[in-house]
Amino acid sequence: MQAAVIDPQWRPGLTVPAGLARRYGLEHFQAIEPAARARLLPGPEPADPSGPLAWDLLYWNEPELYDRLTEGEPLHPDLLARLPLEGASVVDVGAGTGRLTMLCAARAARVYAIEPATPMRALLQQKINGRRLANVEVAAGFSDALPLPDASVELAVSASAFGADPRRGGEAGLAELFRVVRPGGHIAILWPDDPQWFIAHGFRYQVCEGALEVRFRDLDTALACAEIFYSDVVVSHVQQSHRPIVPFELLGINPPRDACWLDVTKP
Ligand SMILES: C[S@@+](CC[C@H](N)C(=O)[O-])C[C@H]1O[C@@H](n2cnc3c(N)ncnc32)[C@H](O)[C@@H]1O
Repeated sequence: MQAAVIDPQWRPGLTVPAGLARRYGLEHFQAIEPAARARLLPGPEPADPSGPLAWDLLYWNEPELYDRLTEGEPLHPDLLARLPLEGASVVDVGAGTGRLTMLCAARAARVYAIEPATPMRALLQQKINGRRLANVEVAAGFSDALPLPDASVELAVSASAFGADPRRGGEAGLAELFRVVRPGGHIAILWPDDPQWFIAHGFRYQVCEGALEVRFRDLDTALACAEIFYSDVVVSHVQQSHRPIVPFELLGINPPRDACWLDVTKP
């Protein structure tokens, strides 16, 4: 792990792939429940589905597709090794379909997986039931209104979910993380979209060394995901290699190997 210059590459949460934007129409906004709609859509009119909300339309309409995209997209092992999980109570904010939740559950005493999108929570709960995990509790919630008491966890984590935008957390979300983490505990924001914002709020920024690659479950999934989420270059790579494996350099996005860390000291 080394202190690093911020990777200038495209960050997925900030830009919408053309294939994803094309996928949704105004009717897909219907799937978003009122509490989330009120946060995502400020006015009475549905927003343009080709804008940044296309990611939310994916979470609310096609959680399986999100899961297929991310199941072979590894968080860097050194980031995970650094998390002080052993015996800890942990909150995973914006847990999605559980990419980080599951890894935390293997080492932590208890994991609270907080996720606003009902379809994503349902898929996560299905995985937890299938693996008979007794130490994970899935709950509805937003980063700026976590359903947890004050000082109830030692560690707050979030992967590719929490950020500066008030719709993703913002100042109110940060205050909420401080509220639920005990003094002496820690906050770890993995694969952040806007590391500068966290650095301005006193976080340390670190990036792990080494290249990463995405390993889709099979060739069909790799091709489908390449067409929806990536470029023609990625589609050609999968077609020509006949392998469902794509290096991050080819995807053109920063790999999931950076994080912003903060030790919580205030009572
Ligand atoms: C890119 S996904 C990341 C999911 C998971 N952490 C992972 O690593 O795969 C972002 C997640 O954040 C959730 N989300 C969006 N806005 C949120 C908010 N205000 N508070 C908490 N979660 C939010 C979305 O529903 C989605 O599941």
